[in-house]
Amino acid sequence: MNNIVVIGSCNMDITVMADKRPTAGETIMGSGLNISPGGKGANQAVAAAKLMAQVTMVGCIGDDAYGRMVLDNLHKYNINTDYLTVIEGENSGTAHITLAEGDNSIIVIAGANAKVDEKVVDNAWDAIMKADLVLVQNEIPLSTIGYITEKCSKNGIKVLLNPAPAADLDPAWLDAATYITPNEHELAALYPSQSTEATMLANEGKIIVTLGKEGVAYAQGGKVHTVPGFTVTPVDTTGAGDTFNGAFATAVANNKSMEEALQYGNAAAALSILKLGAQEGMPTADEVAAFLAKRS
Ligand code: RIB
Ligand code: NA
Repeated sequence: MNNIVVIGSCNMDITVMADKRPTAGETIMGSGLNISPGGKGANQAVAAAKLMAQVTMVGCIGDDAYGRMVLDNLHKYNINTDYLTVIEGENSGTAHITLAEGDNSIIVIAGANAKVDEKVVDNAWDAIMKADLVLVQNEIPLSTIGYITEKCSKNGIKVLLNPAPAADLDPAWLDAATYITPNEHELAALYPSQSTEATMLANEGKIIVTLGKEGVAYAQGGKVHTVPGFTVTPVDTTGAGDTFNGAFATAVANNKSMEEALQYGNAAAALSILKLGAQEGMPTADEVAAFLAKRS
C-alpha cells in the first residue's frame, strides 16, 4: 500500500563551497567541491525509497556520464527506472549550487528534464494507474504538470504537487491536485491575491505550507494548525524540502493521519540536513523512528 510514482527531474548537483558569493566580475578561491545526484524529482524518489516505499521514477536523462550516474544511483535505492527515457544528444539536467554564508543558492539547467512531455507520461501510464500517490514538481515543463494533474484527477489517482521552484500555475491544475506543498514564497506565486492564512483555510486538507525550520502549517476544522519542525545544526539544507515531500508522501501512502505524516516529514527533513549533498543524509525508516522516539 505504498506505491509511489514520481514524475520529475533528475539532476547532477555540482556544489561548491566558499566563504562568500563572488560579486559580478569577481573571481574568488573556494574551499570544496561535491558532485552528487540531485534534482527535485529524483530526490523525492530517493527519500521515499529509503523509507521503504515502492518507487517508480518517470523522467528523462541525457546520454552522458551524468545520466549514467543518475541511473546507477536510482538502482542503488531499488527505484524502478523502466520509464526513465534517455534523450540522445541531450545533456542531463544539472544544478549549480553555491554553499556560502550559511545558505545555498542554485542555478538549474533543465537539459533532458525539458523533454518530460505528455508522451513520457502516457508511456508510464501502467505504473501511474497503480500508484497510491503520484509526486510532481516544477522542474519539468509546466504544461506537463497540467496534463498529469488533470489526467490523474479524471482517473481518481491522487497527486501531490510540490510547486518548486516557484511558478504561476493554472488554477484548474491546483484544483485537480490532491495535496500542494509550497513554501510561503511559492504559495504567493500560486495565489497572489490572498493571504497565506486565507489560502490555507480555503483549501483545507489540500495545501500544506512548509516554513523551513519552523515546520509546516495546514488548515483543519476551520483553523490553521502548525506542526513544528525539529531544530538541528545544518550542514547542507539542499534537498530538505524534497526529503519532507518524499517522507510525507510515504506516510500518506501508508494511511497515516495528516498530523502524523507531517511530523514524519519534518523529522526526515531535519535528519537530511546533517550531511553534505541532497541525498546523502536522507534517513532510513529506522533512523526516523529512532529520532522521533528520542524527541517525543
Ligand atoms: O531541491 C533541491 C534540488 O534542487 C537540488 O538537488 C538541485 O538539483 C535542484 O534542482
Ligand atoms: Na543533506
